[in-house]
Amino acid sequence: MTIPNDTTFLNMTRERWSVRKFAPEQISDEHMARILEAGRNAPSACNYQPQRVLVLQSEEAIAAVRSVTHWAFNAPTVLLVCADLTESWKNADGADSAEMDATIALDHMMMEAWECGVGSTWVRGFDERVMRQVFSIPASWKIVAMMPMGYPAENANPSSWHFRRKSLEEICQVL
Ligand SMILES: Cc1cc2nc3c(=O)[nH]c(=O)nc-3n(C[C@H](O)[C@H](O)[C@H](O)COP(=O)(O)O)c2cc1C
Repeated sequence: MTIPNDTTFLNMTRERWSVRKFAPEQISDEHMARILEAGRNAPSACNYQPQRVLVLQSEEAIAAVRSVTHWAFNAPTVLLVCADLTESWKNADGADSAEMDATIALDHMMMEAWECGVGSTWVRGFDERVMRQVFSIPASWKIVAMMPMGYPAENANPSSWHFRRKSLEEICQVL
């Protein structure tokens, strides 16, 4: 299945679905640059920009991530998104913005990927302790999520979950 080219933002939010089956071609350099740039442009608390992105593409790195989780699928690229806790804003009530900041960056990258015709899935189905060890992630970084990505396989399709969205009444309250 190809990604539709109506890329107004609202349409993308409606039509984007989690791609879990990929064509073998690697993502082009131009598309990769655009995706990473979208993550760089993300807002962050106090503009501290604690997001850290590992781009896994080598045969060795892809084999390593597949050894940690089967949710890497057959993607030719996997982003591992972390947040540097030494560089994130802490609120007076103790709340740390690190995970929010990294999450926003990942969401920006997911949407830009879609705009480029690159499919992805947000994945948290892995053991953070194992992932940390395999990729020697510093203790001061929180591993937030990973995103297998690539051009969708011809027979890739959305899962049934994609079509289940709660109504606005269920998720919003106007006070
Ligand atoms: C925080 C988070 C964690 C997720 N973890 C996984 C995962 O481990 N494996 C997976 O296949 N999908 C994962 N997903 C994708 C969701 O299942 C998917 O977004 C949801 O079912 C809606 O489907 P859609 O993205 O196709 O619209 C995750 C999504 C989020 C936001």
